[in-house]
Amino acid sequence: MGLLTDLRFVRDDFPVLRYEKVIYFDNAATSLKPVQVIDAVKNYYERMSSNVHRGVHRLSMEASRLYEEAHEEVRRFINAKYLEEVVFTSGTTQSLNLAAYMLGLKLSERDNVVISVMEHHSNLLPWITLSQLRGFKVRIVDIRDDYTLNYEILSELIDRNTKVVALTQMSNVLGTKVDIKRVSKIVRESDALLVVDGAQSVPHMPISVVDLDVDFMAFSGHKMLGPTGIGVLYIRKDVQELLKPSFTGGGIVESVLYDGNGFTVKLLESPWRFEPGTPDISGAIGLAEAVRYLRRLGMDSVVSHERELVGYMISRIKNDEVLAGKLTTYGPQTLEDRGGIISFNVVNSNPHIVASFLDTYNIAVRSGYHCAHPLHQRIRADEGTVRVSFYIYNTLDEVDAMVEVLKEYVRKVTK
Ligand SMILES: Cc1ncc(COP(=O)(O)O)c(C=O)c1O
Repeated sequence: MGLLTDLRFVRDDFPVLRYEKVIYFDNAATSLKPVQVIDAVKNYYERMSSNVHRGVHRLSMEASRLYEEAHEEVRRFINAKYLEEVVFTSGTTQSLNLAAYMLGLKLSERDNVVISVMEHHSNLLPWITLSQLRGFKVRIVDIRDDYTLNYEILSELIDRNTKVVALTQMSNVLGTKVDIKRVSKIVRESDALLVVDGAQSVPHMPISVVDLDVDFMAFSGHKMLGPTGIGVLYIRKDVQELLKPSFTGGGIVESVLYDGNGFTVKLLESPWRFEPGTPDISGAIGLAEAVRYLRRLGMDSVVSHERELVGYMISRIKNDEVLAGKLTTYGPQTLEDRGGIISFNVVNSNPHIVASFLDTYNIAVRSGYHCAHPLHQRIRADEGTVRVSFYIYNTLDEVDAMVEVLKEYVRKVTK
């Protein structure tokens, strides 16, 4: 309870919570932004508005300094060893596409890539697209009955032709945490590279890419208090030597020489060689501020806070006479195996109808398939699910308010 009380003061930093009457439980889609992040973005546009890495004038140099500093903030946040390993993208989707293109284009028909049934389409469709181009197989690891990853099947599916294992660290539907340390131990027994979708994990728990021993880690700024349009692909330094940037253009070369017959291209050092074109400069500066904000709170506090909210919501649903037997929840029962996401259905009710009912009481949740169609097929939630996802500014009172509205809905439809 202590940590929860401490975190409550953060609500004042979020203008949406001041201006709008809303219980915001759609954090897995995107988080709210604190005033510190909004001010950092505004400051860039008001005081610099200049491009990076291209000018020797003062405003461009200041923008470049802040842009590079943002890489350093993110490096520290995920405990990467080198700044060169932190590549800015437009978000997780672009990060995973970049990884899939750089790795997948080199594969052939005898190779395979292993993913899980829990993947968001961002970590599924790029591999399917590349497999159609190159002819390799995509193998799917199942979940167990308790909604955790089936690590035994993962071990069985990896063979000497497995070139990539690409897994989420936290399901955006089930809230299931995947033990990436355990996964990397399994993967290191093969020649495969490990790509991790950290979209739902990096914003919500302490991350050390070194301890986890991963090769790639993708995540989005907008789910961790930062602006939309900025994301990260961590690429381990020694793996970079095997890679060619899939996307090229301005700002990534030291020189391009033409000798009458052909071109000699000398790329800049990393991470700049992986960031062609004008980047999202204000987004990067905003992301750095978001990272500072989270670091001040402490990621361990974020974990305990969300665990308290999830535990509370689960017990309220379980012990309520009106809701008993009327709600199906999906995801692990043990709090250690899950993050701050709970998906459910009210029996015989379409999830969009439930979400719309909650919205009439200013409670924002997500409904549908959450870009994870195969998973919904697997858990037999044919019409999708209602998803509640927590973050640092949510409170137990808000959970109580939602439970009351759900009870009212259940009473209404079972009358
Ligand atoms: C697990 C997971 N992966 C990838 C994504 C895609 O993130 P973005 O839309 O920021 O690219 C999401 C977004 O919901 C997600 O939850």
